[in-house]
Amino acid sequence: MPGMVDTHIHASQYSYAGTALDLPLLQWLNTYTFPVESHFKDLEFAHRVYTRVVKRTLMNGTTTACYFATIHTDASLLLGQIANDFGQRALVGKVCMDRNNAVKHYKETRQESEEETCRFIAELLNKKYPLVKPVVTPRSARFCSEALLGQLGTIAKNNNLHIQSHISETTGELKLVKELFPESESYTDVCNKYNLLTDKTVMAHGCHLSDEELIQFRETGASLSHCPNSNISLCSGMLNVRKVLRHKVKLGLGTDVAGGYSASMLDAVRKTLDTSKVLTIQDPDHRTLTFEEVFRLATLGGSQALSMDDQTGNFEVGKDFDALRVNVAAPGGPIDLIQCEGPEILLEKFLNLGDDRNIVEVYVAGRKVVPFTEPTDTVE
Ligand code: GUN
Ligand code: ZN
Repeated sequence: MPGMVDTHIHASQYSYAGTALDLPLLQWLNTYTFPVESHFKDLEFAHRVYTRVVKRTLMNGTTTACYFATIHTDASLLLGQIANDFGQRALVGKVCMDRNNAVKHYKETRQESEEETCRFIAELLNKKYPLVKPVVTPRSARFCSEALLGQLGTIAKNNNLHIQSHISETTGELKLVKELFPESESYTDVCNKYNLLTDKTVMAHGCHLSDEELIQFRETGASLSHCPNSNISLCSGMLNVRKVLRHKVKLGLGTDVAGGYSASMLDAVRKTLDTSKVLTIQDPDHRTLTFEEVFRLATLGGSQALSMDDQTGNFEVGKDFDALRVNVAAPGGPIDLIQCEGPEILLEKFLNLGDDRNIVEVYVAGRKVVPFTEPTDTVE
C-alpha cells in the first residue's frame, strides 16, 4: 500500500508520549510541554529523541512526516539531518514563539525568532537533502506577536515555503485569541491577515472553525490536519471531517504526538473512525466516514494537505515510490487470518488490527528504509 503521511507531529514531544494526558491544552503546555521542549538546547538529548521518533514513525509506516521541532535552530537542523539519514520524507519546522508568559525561559524575542528562522531555512536548504525541507512554523497565533506573525508570513512568501501552525483547537484558546486580536473577525482572520494561509499551509486541529472560516480555507488553499487522538486525549473537541470535506478543504491526518499519545498513523486512522462514529451517535443524520475514505485521508489526503501530491500519496505513474509491504498474516503478528480473504477485507483487517509487525518493508522514493540498515561508518 502507499506510505502514510503524518501531517502533524511534534518530534520534540516524543519523549513523553503516552503520559501527561490529564490536563486541558493550555495547562498541559505550561506543565509538561514547555519544560520538555526547553531541553532541546542540549544537542545530545535532541539526537537521542529525534533518532527514536524518526525510527518509530518509519517502522509504523509513516513515509512522510510534517514535524514541529522546538525553538532551537541547531537541534531543529539535527532533526532534518536524522530524517535524511534514515531516508524519511519530511518537512521540519523550527518553532517560533515570542509570546509566552507562563514559562519565561522558553521564549524568544521577536528579533531572535525572525533571525533564527532565516538561519534555519538557509542552513537546511543548503544541505540539499532530497526529501527534507524547512517549514515556517509559528507555534500558533496566540504564542506570537503580530509583528512576528507578519514577518513569518513574508519569509514564507519570499522563499515559497510551507507553513504549519495550530488553529481553533479548544474553545478556551478561541477566547484568548479574541482577547489578543480584538480587531480580527476570527482565528482564521488573524492568520489570513498575516499571509499565513496559502496553498502550502497546513493547520492542525480546526475543531471549532465556523463555516465562514472553512470557506476562507477553501479560498486560500490552506489545509487542515485532523488529529483525533490529541483532540480526545486533551478533551479539546471533535472535528467534523464530513463538514470539512463538504467545504472541499484539503484534509490529512496527524498524530500530534504528544497531545496524541500514539506515534502510529494506524492509530490516527482508528481514532478518525471512532470520532466519526461518536458524531453519528450524537446526530444520526451524520454520515459516518468509511474505512476506505479514512485510508485515503491517511495517504493521498495527507499528501494533498502538504501540497506534495505531485510526489507521493498513491501509486500514480510519475510519483515517487513511497510504499509499505504489508503482511497481514505476519508470523507472531496481531492478526489471525482464519480464511482466505479478498484485498478489501485484508486492508480493513490491517487498518483496524495491524501494527508494525505487519509492516515488513518500507520504501521512500524507491529506497528501502525499513528494515533499518546499520550505519556504514565502520569501514576498515
Ligand atoms: N498549540 C500550541 N502548541 C501546541 C502543542 O504543542 N500541541 C498542541 N496539541 N497544541 C498546541
Ligand atoms: Zn500540535
